[in-house]
Amino acid sequence: MAREFTSVGVVGLGTMGVGIVEVFARSGVHVRAVEISADALERGRATLTRSTDRAVARGKLAPADRDALLSRVHFAVGLAALDSVELVIEAVPERLDLKRRLFAELDRICRPEAILATNTSSLSVTEIAVATSRPGQVVGIHFFNPAPVMKLVEVVRTVVTAPDVVADTEALCARLGKVAVTVDDRAGFVANALLFGYLNQAVGMLEAQHATREDLDAAMTLGGGLPMGPLALLDLIGLDTAVEILDTMYRHGGRNRRHAAVPLLRQLVTAGLLGRKSGRGFYTYQQPGSPVVV
Ligand code: 3HC
Repeated sequence: MAREFTSVGVVGLGTMGVGIVEVFARSGVHVRAVEISADALERGRATLTRSTDRAVARGKLAPADRDALLSRVHFAVGLAALDSVELVIEAVPERLDLKRRLFAELDRICRPEAILATNTSSLSVTEIAVATSRPGQVVGIHFFNPAPVMKLVEVVRTVVTAPDVVADTEALCARLGKVAVTVDDRAGFVANALLFGYLNQAVGMLEAQHATREDLDAAMTLGGGLPMGPLALLDLIGLDTAVEILDTMYRHGGRNRRHAAVPLLRQLVTAGLLGRKSGRGFYTYQQPGSPVVV
């Protein structure tokens, strides 16, 4: 019988984790939103409140619906809060050792029939799965940023993911109003494997002074019909995340030069200019997280 998913857990309340919590709660699913510290938990709670308040201010969400949405989210410090959920999705930083440790712990804490999912954008789902005693119930559910807006979800199946787990995950994505594409476990899956070579090349063109940042972005919004140019999109994704994804794809995707992070991108990360989340990347933002460019 298909799983119902009335209650799920999300681990890691950064940009993606909070967006995923919002997606579930909007669709009527009860969410246990988990962080490792009280500070990180409060930052996650504040991000969710800001996002839902913005939706109310724009007339997209009735105040009563916002309150109902928030009432479906139970915030907690520590993984013990996940002992009764039907699915956990992890959105912690992109480090394989960290994710493998987390999955081994989730395996101990969660119900034996629970699905353990990772939102990894480029790491091997198979390597994460084998850190558990239930690799058949481990799957990738890769959301795109901003998760509440972007329609696509990549469902990543490994060679050992059980077919019913894939089918139930696809059905869950449809219930969340998303379009799922089911892909094999390859570096960058499909979307990032195609996207990040292009983003990296745009930084290379900026570094070589082919064009200004504004002209590079205008070329792809006005000439390519994209909602954002590559540099603005990198600021949205986070330059640190972009470097992590490029490094993984370079190492595990055949050391293709396309994915060798351009020096300028690394230098910006080293300097702490991470994009919107830090208030400055290729552009400067009025306040961290703000979409308003100054
Ligand atoms: N959370 C929730 N909703 C948001 C949001 C956020 N962070 N940002 C924007 N929105 C909503 C707005 O409320 C608005 O909703 P409405 O139409 O119902 O009023 C809608 O999105 C449009 O927002 P804006 O009018 O403020 O701005 P834009 O029209 O410029 O859209 C954008 C903003 C949706 C970010 C759009 O520019 C876009 O689609 N950009 C491309 C994003 C993209 O390519 N993402 C994929 C990145 S790759 C990735 O995530 C993979 C990962 O592994 C790194």
